[in-house]
Amino acid sequence: MTWLKGNSKEIKMSDKKPSGLEDVVVAQSSICFIDGKRGQLVYRGYDIDDLAENASFEEVAYLLWNGRLPSQSELDGLKADLGAAMHFPKHLLELLKELPFDASPMRVLSLATAALGILDPDADDMSPAANRKKAIHLMAQLPIITCAWHHIRNGTLMPSPKPEKSLAYNFLWLLNALEPDDYAVDTFDAALILHADHELNASTFSARVTAATLSDLHSAVTSAIGTLKGPLHGGANEAVMQMLQEIGEVENVPHYMETLRAEKKKVMGFGHRVYKAKDPRAVILERMSEELGKRAGDTKWFEMTRAVEAIFQPTVAEKGIFPNVDFYSASAYQVMGIPRDLFTPIFACSRVVGWTAHLLEQYANNRLFRPSSDYVGEKGLKYAPISQR
Ligand code: CMC
Repeated sequence: MTWLKGNSKEIKMSDKKPSGLEDVVVAQSSICFIDGKRGQLVYRGYDIDDLAENASFEEVAYLLWNGRLPSQSELDGLKADLGAAMHFPKHLLELLKELPFDASPMRVLSLATAALGILDPDADDMSPAANRKKAIHLMAQLPIITCAWHHIRNGTLMPSPKPEKSLAYNFLWLLNALEPDDYAVDTFDAALILHADHELNASTFSARVTAATLSDLHSAVTSAIGTLKGPLHGGANEAVMQMLQEIGEVENVPHYMETLRAEKKKVMGFGHRVYKAKDPRAVILERMSEELGKRAGDTKWFEMTRAVEAIFQPTVAEKGIFPNVDFYSASAYQVMGIPRDLFTPIFACSRVVGWTAHLLEQYANNRLFRPSSDYVGEKGLKYAPISQR
Protein backbone atom coordinates (compact mmCIF):
# COMPACT_ATOMS: atom_id res chain seq x y z
CA MET A 1 0.00 0.00 0.00
CA THR A 2 1.39 3.43 -0.93
CA TRP A 3 0.24 6.99 -0.45
CA LEU A 4 -0.09 9.70 -3.06
CA LYS A 5 0.19 13.19 -1.62
CA GLY A 6 -2.39 15.64 -2.96
CA ASN A 7 -2.48 19.42 -2.38
CA SER A 8 -5.22 19.19 0.18
CA LYS A 9 -5.18 15.67 1.49
CA GLU A 10 -3.38 12.39 1.30
CA ILE A 11 -4.90 9.83 -1.03
CA LYS A 12 -4.57 6.15 -0.41
CA MET A 13 -3.39 4.35 -3.55
CA SER A 14 -4.85 0.87 -3.57
CA ASP A 15 -2.69 -1.95 -4.85
CA LYS A 16 -5.59 -3.01 -7.06
CA LYS A 17 -6.66 0.23 -8.69
CA PRO A 18 -4.72 3.42 -9.53
CA SER A 19 -6.12 6.50 -7.80
CA GLY A 20 -6.83 8.35 -11.06
CA LEU A 21 -6.18 11.50 -8.96
CA GLU A 22 -9.62 11.07 -7.38
CA ASP A 23 -10.29 13.87 -4.85
CA VAL A 24 -6.85 15.41 -5.40
CA VAL A 25 -7.17 19.20 -5.52
CA VAL A 26 -4.73 20.64 -8.06
CA ALA A 27 -6.06 24.17 -8.62
CA GLN A 28 -8.15 26.92 -7.11
CA SER A 29 -10.82 28.01 -9.54
CA SER A 30 -13.78 30.36 -9.53
CA ILE A 31 -15.28 29.05 -12.77
CA CYS A 32 -17.35 25.97 -12.00
CA PHE A 33 -18.72 24.20 -8.93
CA ILE A 34 -20.16 20.68 -8.75
CA ASP A 35 -22.01 19.16 -5.81
CA GLY A 36 -21.78 15.51 -6.82
CA LYS A 37 -24.02 14.22 -4.02
CA ARG A 38 -26.87 16.63 -4.74
CA GLY A 39 -26.40 16.55 -8.52
CA GLN A 40 -25.80 20.28 -8.77
CA LEU A 41 -23.74 22.14 -11.38
CA VAL A 42 -22.96 25.84 -11.11
CA TYR A 43 -21.13 28.16 -13.55
CA ARG A 44 -19.71 31.28 -11.88
CA GLY A 45 -22.41 31.12 -9.19
CA TYR A 46 -25.36 30.46 -11.54
CA ASP A 47 -27.21 27.17 -11.43
CA ILE A 48 -27.08 25.23 -14.73
CA ASP A 49 -30.91 24.90 -14.85
CA ASP A 50 -31.25 28.68 -14.71
CA LEU A 51 -28.67 29.21 -17.49
CA ALA A 52 -29.99 26.43 -19.76
CA GLU A 53 -33.52 27.83 -19.41
CA ASN A 54 -32.79 31.54 -19.76
CA ALA A 55 -29.34 32.34 -21.17
CA SER A 56 -27.80 32.01 -24.63
CA PHE A 57 -24.55 30.10 -25.30
CA GLU A 58 -22.88 33.43 -26.16
CA GLU A 59 -23.91 34.92 -22.79
CA VAL A 60 -22.59 31.82 -21.01
CA ALA A 61 -19.28 32.13 -22.87
CA TYR A 62 -18.98 35.73 -21.70
CA LEU A 63 -19.87 34.63 -18.17
CA LEU A 64 -17.29 31.84 -18.09
CA TRP A 65 -14.53 34.04 -19.52
CA ASN A 66 -15.27 37.19 -17.53
CA GLY A 67 -16.86 35.99 -14.30
CA ARG A 68 -20.11 37.94 -14.81
CA LEU A 69 -23.01 38.13 -17.23
CA PRO A 70 -22.61 40.72 -20.02
CA SER A 71 -24.52 43.96 -20.45
CA GLN A 72 -26.41 44.30 -23.76
CA SER A 73 -23.56 46.23 -25.37
CA GLU A 74 -20.95 43.74 -24.12
CA LEU A 75 -23.01 40.86 -25.53
CA ASP A 76 -23.46 42.70 -28.84
CA GLY A 77 -19.68 43.22 -28.92
CA LEU A 78 -18.99 39.52 -28.35
CA LYS A 79 -21.50 38.50 -31.02
CA ALA A 80 -19.88 40.92 -33.48
CA ASP A 81 -16.42 39.47 -32.72
CA LEU A 82 -17.74 35.91 -33.13
CA GLY A 83 -19.46 36.85 -36.40
CA ALA A 84 -16.24 38.38 -37.72
CA ALA A 85 -14.36 35.17 -36.86
CA MET A 86 -16.86 32.91 -38.67
CA HIS A 87 -14.70 32.23 -41.67
CA PHE A 88 -12.59 29.33 -42.84
CA PRO A 89 -8.89 30.01 -43.49
CA LYS A 90 -8.09 29.07 -47.12
CA HIS A 91 -4.88 27.18 -46.22
CA LEU A 92 -6.81 25.08 -43.75
CA LEU A 93 -9.41 24.19 -46.35
CA GLU A 94 -6.64 23.00 -48.70
CA LEU A 95 -5.11 20.95 -45.88
CA LEU A 96 -8.41 19.23 -44.99
CA LYS A 97 -9.09 18.38 -48.62
CA GLU A 98 -5.89 16.28 -48.62
CA LEU A 99 -7.10 14.04 -45.77
CA PRO A 100 -8.68 10.60 -46.30
CA PHE A 101 -12.46 11.03 -46.28
CA ASP A 102 -12.92 8.41 -43.56
CA ALA A 103 -10.72 10.34 -41.08
CA SER A 104 -12.38 10.65 -37.67
CA PRO A 105 -13.86 14.16 -37.21
CA MET A 106 -12.18 14.40 -33.78
CA ARG A 107 -8.77 13.78 -35.35
CA VAL A 108 -9.58 16.38 -37.99
CA LEU A 109 -10.61 18.87 -35.30
CA SER A 110 -7.37 18.26 -33.44
CA LEU A 111 -5.28 18.72 -36.59
CA ALA A 112 -7.23 21.82 -37.60
CA THR A 113 -6.86 23.42 -34.16
CA ALA A 114 -3.10 22.90 -34.26
CA ALA A 115 -3.10 24.35 -37.80
CA LEU A 116 -5.08 27.41 -36.63
CA GLY A 117 -2.21 28.02 -34.20
CA ILE A 118 0.24 27.94 -37.10
CA LEU A 119 -1.89 30.34 -39.14
CA ASP A 120 -2.60 32.80 -36.29
CA PRO A 121 0.10 35.52 -36.22
CA ASP A 122 -0.73 36.12 -32.52
CA ALA A 123 -0.49 32.45 -31.53
CA ASP A 124 2.55 33.05 -29.32
CA ASP A 125 1.32 36.35 -27.88
CA MET A 126 0.59 35.32 -24.30
CA SER A 127 -1.04 38.60 -23.20
CA PRO A 128 -4.54 38.24 -21.69
CA ALA A 129 -6.00 40.37 -24.51
CA ALA A 130 -4.47 38.15 -27.21
CA ASN A 131 -5.59 34.99 -25.41
CA ARG A 132 -9.17 36.30 -25.14
CA LYS A 133 -9.17 37.03 -28.85
CA LYS A 134 -7.88 33.52 -29.58
CA ALA A 135 -10.62 32.06 -27.36
CA ILE A 136 -13.30 33.93 -29.32
CA HIS A 137 -11.80 32.79 -32.63
CA LEU A 138 -11.72 29.15 -31.54
CA MET A 139 -15.32 29.32 -30.29
CA ALA A 140 -16.38 30.63 -33.73
CA GLN A 141 -14.15 28.36 -35.79
CA LEU A 142 -14.50 24.89 -34.23
CA PRO A 143 -18.16 24.59 -35.38
CA ILE A 144 -17.19 25.75 -38.87
CA ILE A 145 -14.36 23.21 -39.09
CA THR A 146 -16.67 20.42 -37.88
CA CYS A 147 -19.34 21.27 -40.49
CA ALA A 148 -16.79 21.94 -43.24
CA TRP A 149 -15.22 18.52 -42.69
CA HIS A 150 -18.65 16.92 -42.93
CA HIS A 151 -19.20 18.58 -46.34
CA ILE A 152 -15.67 17.85 -47.59
CA ARG A 153 -15.98 14.13 -46.83
CA ASN A 154 -19.44 13.96 -48.46
CA GLY A 155 -18.44 16.02 -51.48
CA THR A 156 -21.18 18.56 -50.75
CA LEU A 157 -21.01 22.34 -50.56
CA MET A 158 -21.17 24.12 -47.21
CA PRO A 159 -23.27 27.29 -47.28
CA SER A 160 -21.77 30.55 -46.01
CA PRO A 161 -22.09 31.29 -42.29
CA LYS A 162 -24.62 33.93 -41.20
CA PRO A 163 -22.55 36.07 -38.83
CA GLU A 164 -25.59 37.94 -37.51
CA LYS A 165 -27.10 34.67 -36.20
CA SER A 166 -26.18 32.65 -33.11
CA LEU A 167 -23.56 29.94 -33.03
CA ALA A 168 -26.23 27.29 -32.46
CA TYR A 169 -28.16 28.50 -35.52
CA ASN A 170 -24.98 28.55 -37.60
CA PHE A 171 -23.99 25.01 -36.65
CA LEU A 172 -27.33 23.56 -37.77
CA TRP A 173 -27.46 25.78 -40.84
CA LEU A 174 -23.91 24.96 -41.96
CA LEU A 175 -24.32 21.24 -41.32
CA ASN A 176 -27.63 20.70 -43.11
CA ALA A 177 -27.69 23.67 -45.52
CA LEU A 178 -31.32 24.06 -44.44
CA GLU A 179 -32.98 26.77 -42.38
CA PRO A 180 -33.21 25.20 -38.88
CA ASP A 181 -36.47 25.55 -36.95
CA ASP A 182 -36.53 27.70 -33.82
CA TYR A 183 -37.06 24.80 -31.43
CA ALA A 184 -34.05 22.93 -32.81
CA VAL A 185 -31.88 26.07 -32.50
CA ASP A 186 -33.04 26.72 -28.91
CA THR A 187 -32.47 23.09 -27.94
CA PHE A 188 -29.05 22.96 -29.54
CA ASP A 189 -28.14 26.24 -27.84
CA ALA A 190 -29.15 24.76 -24.47
CA ALA A 191 -27.08 21.62 -25.22
CA LEU A 192 -24.05 23.85 -25.89
CA ILE A 193 -24.62 25.59 -22.55
CA LEU A 194 -24.88 22.26 -20.72
CA HIS A 195 -21.55 21.03 -22.12
CA ALA A 196 -19.64 24.32 -21.81
CA ASP A 197 -17.76 23.60 -18.61
CA HIS A 198 -17.37 20.95 -15.95
CA GLU A 199 -14.74 21.87 -13.40
CA LEU A 200 -11.53 19.86 -13.65
CA ASN A 201 -12.70 17.13 -16.03
CA ALA A 202 -10.00 15.19 -17.88
CA SER A 203 -9.80 17.40 -20.99
CA THR A 204 -9.79 20.64 -19.00
CA PHE A 205 -7.08 19.25 -16.75
CA SER A 206 -5.08 18.25 -19.80
CA ALA A 207 -5.48 21.78 -21.23
CA ARG A 208 -4.30 23.28 -17.95
CA VAL A 209 -1.33 20.91 -17.75
CA THR A 210 -0.21 22.00 -21.22
CA ALA A 211 -0.75 25.69 -20.44
CA ALA A 212 1.16 25.37 -17.17
CA THR A 213 4.35 24.77 -19.14
CA LEU A 214 3.60 28.22 -20.66
CA SER A 215 2.79 26.61 -23.95
CA ASP A 216 0.29 28.59 -26.03
CA LEU A 217 -3.51 28.48 -26.02
CA HIS A 218 -3.88 26.62 -29.34
CA SER A 219 -1.52 23.89 -28.11
CA ALA A 220 -3.46 23.57 -24.86
CA VAL A 221 -6.80 23.28 -26.70
CA THR A 222 -5.28 20.68 -29.04
CA SER A 223 -4.26 18.63 -25.97
CA ALA A 224 -7.79 18.95 -24.62
CA ILE A 225 -9.39 17.76 -27.88
CA GLY A 226 -7.24 14.61 -27.83
CA THR A 227 -8.32 13.94 -24.26
CA LEU A 228 -12.01 14.59 -24.90
CA LYS A 229 -12.00 12.05 -27.75
CA GLY A 230 -11.76 8.99 -25.46
CA PRO A 231 -14.91 6.92 -24.78
CA LEU A 232 -14.59 7.34 -21.01
CA HIS A 233 -14.95 11.10 -21.53
CA GLY A 234 -16.54 13.00 -24.45
CA GLY A 235 -16.45 9.99 -26.77
CA ALA A 236 -19.13 8.39 -24.58
CA ASN A 237 -21.96 10.16 -26.44
CA GLU A 238 -20.94 8.38 -29.65
CA ALA A 239 -20.62 5.12 -27.72
CA VAL A 240 -24.16 5.54 -26.34
CA MET A 241 -25.49 6.04 -29.87
CA GLN A 242 -23.57 3.00 -31.07
CA MET A 243 -25.23 0.99 -28.29
CA LEU A 244 -28.70 2.25 -29.30
CA GLN A 245 -28.03 1.40 -32.94
CA GLU A 246 -26.87 -2.09 -31.95
CA ILE A 247 -30.06 -2.55 -29.90
CA GLY A 248 -32.12 -1.46 -32.90
CA GLU A 249 -35.63 -1.63 -31.40
CA VAL A 250 -37.13 -0.96 -27.98
CA GLU A 251 -38.21 -4.61 -27.54
CA ASN A 252 -34.57 -5.74 -27.90
CA VAL A 253 -33.43 -3.72 -24.86
CA PRO A 254 -33.91 -6.45 -22.17
CA HIS A 255 -31.95 -9.06 -24.15
CA TYR A 256 -29.15 -6.58 -24.95
CA MET A 257 -28.87 -5.52 -21.31
CA GLU A 258 -28.74 -9.13 -20.20
CA THR A 259 -25.85 -9.74 -22.62
CA LEU A 260 -23.96 -6.69 -21.33
CA ARG A 261 -24.47 -7.91 -17.75
CA ALA A 262 -23.28 -11.42 -18.59
CA GLU A 263 -20.20 -10.06 -20.34
CA LYS A 264 -19.56 -7.62 -17.44
CA LYS A 265 -19.42 -4.67 -19.85
CA LYS A 266 -19.99 -1.07 -18.82
CA VAL A 267 -23.10 0.74 -19.94
CA MET A 268 -21.87 3.85 -21.72
CA GLY A 269 -23.46 7.12 -20.57
CA PHE A 270 -23.65 5.85 -16.98
CA GLY A 271 -21.36 6.65 -14.08
CA HIS A 272 -19.27 9.64 -13.17
CA ARG A 273 -16.22 10.35 -11.06
CA VAL A 274 -17.93 13.24 -9.26
CA TYR A 275 -21.71 12.70 -9.47
CA LYS A 276 -23.23 10.16 -7.14
CA ALA A 277 -26.72 11.32 -8.15
CA LYS A 278 -28.28 11.83 -11.57
CA ASP A 279 -26.21 14.32 -13.56
CA PRO A 280 -28.30 17.55 -13.69
CA ARG A 281 -27.40 17.90 -17.37
CA ALA A 282 -28.88 14.45 -18.06
CA VAL A 283 -32.13 15.54 -16.39
CA ILE A 284 -32.43 18.51 -18.78
CA LEU A 285 -31.28 16.54 -21.84
CA GLU A 286 -33.81 13.81 -21.08
CA ARG A 287 -36.65 16.36 -21.33
CA MET A 288 -35.16 17.83 -24.49
CA SER A 289 -34.68 14.44 -26.12
CA GLU A 290 -38.29 13.46 -25.40
CA GLU A 291 -39.67 16.71 -26.81
CA LEU A 292 -37.43 16.57 -29.91
CA GLY A 293 -38.55 13.00 -30.56
CA LYS A 294 -42.24 13.96 -30.28
CA ARG A 295 -41.84 16.92 -32.61
CA ALA A 296 -39.94 14.82 -35.15
CA GLY A 297 -42.42 11.93 -34.86
CA ASP A 298 -39.46 9.67 -34.01
CA THR A 299 -39.51 8.72 -30.32
CA LYS A 300 -37.79 5.35 -30.80
CA TRP A 301 -34.31 6.47 -29.71
CA PHE A 302 -35.63 8.26 -26.64
CA GLU A 303 -37.78 5.28 -25.64
CA MET A 304 -34.85 2.92 -26.08
CA THR A 305 -32.65 5.16 -23.90
CA ARG A 306 -35.30 5.27 -21.23
CA ALA A 307 -35.74 1.49 -21.38
CA VAL A 308 -31.98 1.02 -20.87
CA GLU A 309 -32.13 3.34 -17.86
CA ALA A 310 -35.17 1.56 -16.41
CA ILE A 311 -33.41 -1.82 -16.52
CA PHE A 312 -29.88 -0.77 -15.56
CA GLN A 313 -30.45 2.01 -13.00
CA PRO A 314 -31.95 -0.10 -10.18
CA THR A 315 -29.01 -2.51 -10.41
CA VAL A 316 -26.35 0.16 -9.84
CA ALA A 317 -28.06 2.93 -7.85
CA GLU A 318 -26.54 1.81 -4.59
CA LYS A 319 -23.05 2.06 -6.14
CA GLY A 320 -23.82 5.71 -6.97
CA ILE A 321 -23.97 5.10 -10.72
CA PHE A 322 -26.49 7.23 -12.62
CA PRO A 323 -26.96 8.53 -16.17
CA ASN A 324 -24.46 11.23 -17.13
CA VAL A 325 -24.54 14.04 -19.71
CA ASP A 326 -23.80 11.69 -22.60
CA PHE A 327 -26.73 9.36 -21.98
CA TYR A 328 -29.61 11.48 -23.34
CA SER A 329 -27.58 13.79 -25.60
CA ALA A 330 -27.10 10.84 -27.99
CA SER A 331 -30.83 10.35 -28.73
CA ALA A 332 -31.35 14.14 -28.87
CA TYR A 333 -28.62 14.65 -31.50
CA GLN A 334 -29.79 11.58 -33.44
CA VAL A 335 -33.30 13.01 -33.80
CA MET A 336 -31.78 16.30 -34.93
CA GLY A 337 -30.26 14.39 -37.85
CA ILE A 338 -26.66 14.84 -36.69
CA PRO A 339 -24.28 12.04 -37.77
CA ARG A 340 -22.99 9.96 -34.84
CA ASP A 341 -19.32 10.75 -35.35
CA LEU A 342 -20.05 14.49 -34.97
CA PHE A 343 -21.44 14.09 -31.45
CA THR A 344 -18.04 14.39 -29.75
CA PRO A 345 -16.89 17.28 -32.00
CA ILE A 346 -20.08 19.12 -30.89
CA PHE A 347 -18.99 18.52 -27.29
CA ALA A 348 -15.64 20.14 -28.22
CA CYS A 349 -17.41 23.09 -29.92
CA SER A 350 -19.07 23.78 -26.59
CA ARG A 351 -16.32 22.80 -24.14
CA VAL A 352 -13.78 25.02 -25.92
CA VAL A 353 -15.41 27.86 -23.98
CA GLY A 354 -14.73 26.14 -20.67
CA TRP A 355 -11.22 25.09 -21.70
CA THR A 356 -10.29 28.62 -22.64
CA ALA A 357 -11.85 30.08 -19.46
CA HIS A 358 -9.66 27.69 -17.47
CA LEU A 359 -6.63 28.58 -19.59
CA LEU A 360 -7.09 32.29 -18.90
CA GLU A 361 -7.30 31.45 -15.19
CA GLN A 362 -4.25 29.17 -15.39
CA TYR A 363 -2.08 31.74 -17.17
CA ALA A 364 -3.10 34.40 -14.64
CA ASN A 365 -1.77 32.35 -11.71
CA ASN A 366 0.51 29.70 -13.11
CA ARG A 367 2.63 26.97 -11.64
CA LEU A 368 3.94 23.97 -13.54
CA PHE A 369 2.07 20.68 -12.96
CA ARG A 370 4.63 18.02 -12.21
CA PRO A 371 3.33 15.14 -10.06
CA SER A 372 5.39 12.18 -8.97
CA SER A 373 5.03 8.48 -9.48
CA ASP A 374 5.64 5.69 -7.04
CA TYR A 375 8.58 3.80 -8.61
CA VAL A 376 8.01 0.04 -8.49
CA GLY A 377 10.55 -0.98 -11.16
CA GLU A 378 14.00 -2.54 -10.86
CA LYS A 379 17.11 -0.86 -9.51
CA GLY A 380 20.87 -1.42 -9.71
CA LEU A 381 20.98 -3.25 -13.07
CA LYS A 382 24.24 -3.14 -15.03
CA TYR A 383 24.40 -2.53 -18.78
CA ALA A 384 25.34 -5.66 -20.77
CA PRO A 385 26.66 -5.45 -24.34
CA ILE A 386 24.03 -6.59 -26.88
CA SER A 387 25.97 -9.76 -27.75
CA GLN A 388 25.63 -10.93 -24.11
CA ARG A 389 21.84 -10.45 -23.72
N1 CMC B 1 -21.43 0.65 -16.26
C1 CMC B 1 -21.21 -0.35 -15.38
N2 CMC B 1 -20.43 -0.24 -14.30
C2 CMC B 1 -19.84 0.95 -14.09
C3 CMC B 1 -20.02 2.04 -14.95
C4 CMC B 1 -20.86 1.86 -16.08
N3 CMC B 1 -21.04 2.85 -16.96
N4 CMC B 1 -19.31 3.10 -14.51
C5 CMC B 1 -18.70 2.67 -13.39
N5 CMC B 1 -19.02 1.38 -13.14
C6 CMC B 1 -18.54 0.56 -12.02
C7 CMC B 1 -17.13 0.06 -12.31
O1 CMC B 1 -17.14 -1.16 -12.99
C8 CMC B 1 -16.56 -0.02 -10.92
O2 CMC B 1 -17.06 -1.17 -10.31
P1 CMC B 1 -16.14 -2.01 -9.30
O3 CMC B 1 -15.82 -1.07 -8.17
O4 CMC B 1 -17.00 -3.16 -8.90
O5 CMC B 1 -14.92 -2.40 -10.08
C9 CMC B 1 -17.20 1.16 -10.19
O6 CMC B 1 -18.43 1.41 -10.88
C10 CMC B 1 -16.34 2.41 -10.23
O7 CMC B 1 -16.07 2.70 -11.61
P2 CMC B 1 -14.74 3.37 -12.13
O8 CMC B 1 -14.65 3.13 -13.59
O9 CMC B 1 -13.57 2.96 -11.30
O10 CMC B 1 -15.07 4.87 -11.78
P3 CMC B 1 -14.32 6.13 -12.32
O11 CMC B 1 -14.66 7.24 -11.43
O12 CMC B 1 -12.88 5.83 -12.54
O13 CMC B 1 -14.95 6.29 -13.78
C11 CMC B 1 -16.30 6.82 -15.58
C12 CMC B 1 -15.91 7.18 -14.13
C13 CMC B 1 -17.16 7.93 -16.14
C14 CMC B 1 -15.03 6.69 -16.43
C15 CMC B 1 -17.07 5.47 -15.57
O14 CMC B 1 -18.26 5.62 -14.84
C16 CMC B 1 -17.37 4.97 -16.97
O15 CMC B 1 -16.52 4.32 -17.59
N6 CMC B 1 -18.59 5.27 -17.52
C17 CMC B 1 -18.90 4.93 -18.89
C18 CMC B 1 -18.31 5.96 -19.85
C19 CMC B 1 -19.03 7.27 -19.78
O16 CMC B 1 -20.24 7.33 -19.81
N7 CMC B 1 -18.26 8.37 -19.75
C20 CMC B 1 -18.80 9.73 -19.72
C21 CMC B 1 -18.53 10.41 -18.43
S1 CMC B 1 -19.46 11.91 -18.15
C22 CMC B 1 -19.11 12.99 -19.44
C23 CMC B 1 -17.69 13.25 -19.69
O17 CMC B 1 -16.85 13.30 -18.81
O18 CMC B 1 -17.37 13.47 -20.86
